[in-house]
Amino acid sequence: MGIDFSTIKERLLQEFETVFNHKNNLSFTFAPGRVNIIGEHTDYNGGNVFPVAIDIGSFLVLSPRSDKQVRAYSMNFPEEGICTLSIDAKEDASGWAKYLVGIIRAFQVEKNIHFEHGFDILLFGNIPDGAGLSSSASVCVSLAYAFDSLFHCQLDKIELVKIAQKAEHLVGVNCGIMDQFASAMGKKDHGILLDCNTLDYTYVPLNLGKYTLVIMDSKKQRQLQDSKYNERRAECEKAVEYLQKEIAIKTLGELTEEQFEQYKHNIPDPILLKRAKHAVTENQRTLKALACLEKNDIEHLGILLNESHYSLRDDYEVTGMELDSLTDIARNYTGVLGSRMTGAGFGGCCIALVPSDTVEDFITHVQKNYHLNAEFYQVMVEDGVRHF
Ligand code: GLA
Repeated sequence: MGIDFSTIKERLLQEFETVFNHKNNLSFTFAPGRVNIIGEHTDYNGGNVFPVAIDIGSFLVLSPRSDKQVRAYSMNFPEEGICTLSIDAKEDASGWAKYLVGIIRAFQVEKNIHFEHGFDILLFGNIPDGAGLSSSASVCVSLAYAFDSLFHCQLDKIELVKIAQKAEHLVGVNCGIMDQFASAMGKKDHGILLDCNTLDYTYVPLNLGKYTLVIMDSKKQRQLQDSKYNERRAECEKAVEYLQKEIAIKTLGELTEEQFEQYKHNIPDPILLKRAKHAVTENQRTLKALACLEKNDIEHLGILLNESHYSLRDDYEVTGMELDSLTDIARNYTGVLGSRMTGAGFGGCCIALVPSDTVEDFITHVQKNYHLNAEFYQVMVEDGVRHF
């Protein structure tokens, strides 16, 4: 099992030759998507997250050119054809190429690195569209990693993570660092406990005993996701400003639940209060989840997943009817320990902890009771970005 790199390589090579008419000095890069187990909307709040990298993601083929031209093609959007730009990335691009421009610019603004020559590049992604499993982060991480090698930048992976995050900011989503970190730093069969304040991280074996983590795609089109995301982030920053009247913190992630109770009277707006409450409690839940895994207490991990979802539903308000209904249906199945949305919310995927011997029947149960055509993904927990 795992990723069949040799078959994929053959297919990409053929496609590259067809599109660009040569196969000079090709290099191949893969960067995975991610599933976040717990710790949602905590990354940009300086809190903890616990994602895993998965065995679907973005595959790149890159070939250097001697001139300053960039020619880019995505197998996922053949109708867009070959997009042509110049290596200084002064002009804007649309579609997937905006991430390419974002990465070239991020190398410039973050590291003052200006690429000296162009390249031909082909992209193939196998993360389902709109699933919220970080396809854009995997595109950005694969690009950053491939360019680091091609242009001999010798940046370490964490610097590449920051470049990938910067590219998303330049594209317009003020995201945290979790997705890019998971895609670059993932480890097979392990979750990553990441403190987003310090970027300290530990790998924790993902031993779920008799349970399987099932990924369910709600098939809800994500609407207004980016603007709502940026709005939540701004709300949390405002809440911090209020709290700073009495306590010297920079982020909500620095507060324990007890401290939050003590100082929350400084936040006059009930909406901001709810947002901050989620960020603080979710951060603590993430640490509790780790303790559960270490003690092999999967039952309690399930309870924490449910609590996380309720907090995202009631206090952070990023779930919506589909994600609520899908997780309710999952919880109603005998033996399921817990279920929650994963990722930014407003659509995309949910996860559920299901007894391994009833997964097939569980899927039938959800399909029967959920009003949209949910899809189920069986993924493996994988290593982060690499050449192949
Ligand atoms: C998106 C962002 C991440 C993180 C999650 C919510 O995936 O890209 O940085 O904030 O939402 O936890």
